Amino acid sequence: MATSSRIPGFYRLPVAERLTTLEREFGLDPTVWLTPGGLDIGRAQHMVENCIGTFALPIGVATNFVLNGKEVLIPMAIEEPSVIAAASAGALAARPSGGFVTSSTERRMIGQVQIVGCSDFAAAKQALLSKSEELLALANQLQPRMVERGGGARSLEVRELGEQGGPHGQMLVVQLVIDTVDAMGANVINTVVEGLGPRVEEIAGGRVVLRILSNYVDQCLARASVRIAPSALAPDPATGAAIVDGIISAQDFAALDPYRAVTHNKGVMNGIDAVVIATGNDWRAIEAGAHAYAARRGSYGPMTDWHKDEQGHLRGSIELPMPVGLIGGSITIHPLAAEAIRLLGVETARELAEIIVAVGLAQNFSAIRALATDGIQKGHMALHARTVAATAGARGGAVDRIAAALIALGDIRLERARELLQGEALP
Ligand code: MEV
Repeated sequence: MATSSRIPGFYRLPVAERLTTLEREFGLDPTVWLTPGGLDIGRAQHMVENCIGTFALPIGVATNFVLNGKEVLIPMAIEEPSVIAAASAGALAARPSGGFVTSSTERRMIGQVQIVGCSDFAAAKQALLSKSEELLALANQLQPRMVERGGGARSLEVRELGEQGGPHGQMLVVQLVIDTVDAMGANVINTVVEGLGPRVEEIAGGRVVLRILSNYVDQCLARASVRIAPSALAPDPATGAAIVDGIISAQDFAALDPYRAVTHNKGVMNGIDAVVIATGNDWRAIEAGAHAYAARRGSYGPMTDWHKDEQGHLRGSIELPMPVGLIGGSITIHPLAAEAIRLLGVETARELAEIIVAVGLAQNFSAIRALATDGIQKGHMALHARTVAATAGARGGAVDRIAAALIALGDIRLERARELLQGEALP
């Protein structure tokens, strides 16, 4: 656990000093963080086929997060400027009221076995249900290590889909619920459903086709909530209250309009994906499940909820499927993923999932706060100006000085920054 995730001025430190600060506290290995992409070609070539290199993303640390009273520094891998600053700003606004409160369900993943061509689908369903115990026991035999880790097949349901003579025909789906403990579990689940296939076919008297996990893990949910007082949003009460109302209005817009909801949720996923990637998890799986969950009520809606309580405080919450893991796949192979998990100080996949949704909530808060007040370009420009100043060669305090001058001149170009740096045109 971090002594404090509030590190004022962290962003001003040179990269090496940022790392030294974290190395002292967390025992991080700077050589891993400074290897391009955290991944040498020797490992990379065993991860994908026909490998010819690695593709690096910047990885930064979001500060200020407190979750259930615990201080946490958040590693985020992302190419987009402002996202890490926005997550940190959201977490800062949440600090005075104690930060984020999080929780999660047990980690129940889903595997599916599709059966077609039964002569009597109703009888096949009954036959499969009557053999549930046998199928669950077989599933556990197929993955003894998962059972040793405290997981295993928990329940089985049989769903009937389509209709005879209908456009998609008729089929059954055996849906197996499996607790994969701290693994994301894709391999485990796929091994189990493939292993069950022949026995399912025998019992159902039909033909098994697909045997694969479902990425719609609506029984593996993580939740976060936050309370933010208007005083944390602006020094004067009227402005703070107006910002709260602006955020509620942004929420209403997203609730009423899928065109806006998609963008609202893109902002949520900016934070979520960045942590998912930094910890070596499968962000496509998380994206697919999160968007499906956002449409669970029949129309696509916002992933977060914001409302105002009786005291005029802003209350935010989020609930999403979050089947991330701490072991297996690239999480175990990628050295930076191990370092990111060390920095987070998490010991269970559930803790990681809860942190991730809290980051999504913080990210969304900062985005809609900016949109409901100054707009997002102001912050983007400030950051862009800093990047241009640094690219021109500015270091230390000169970065902020040159960036401020570029903004004052309304001319954020590299040539201008170079001129300013040479002292030729400092205003
Ligand atoms: C940009 O990456 C994300 C935002 O568009 C999110 C939003 O509009 O809520 C700022």
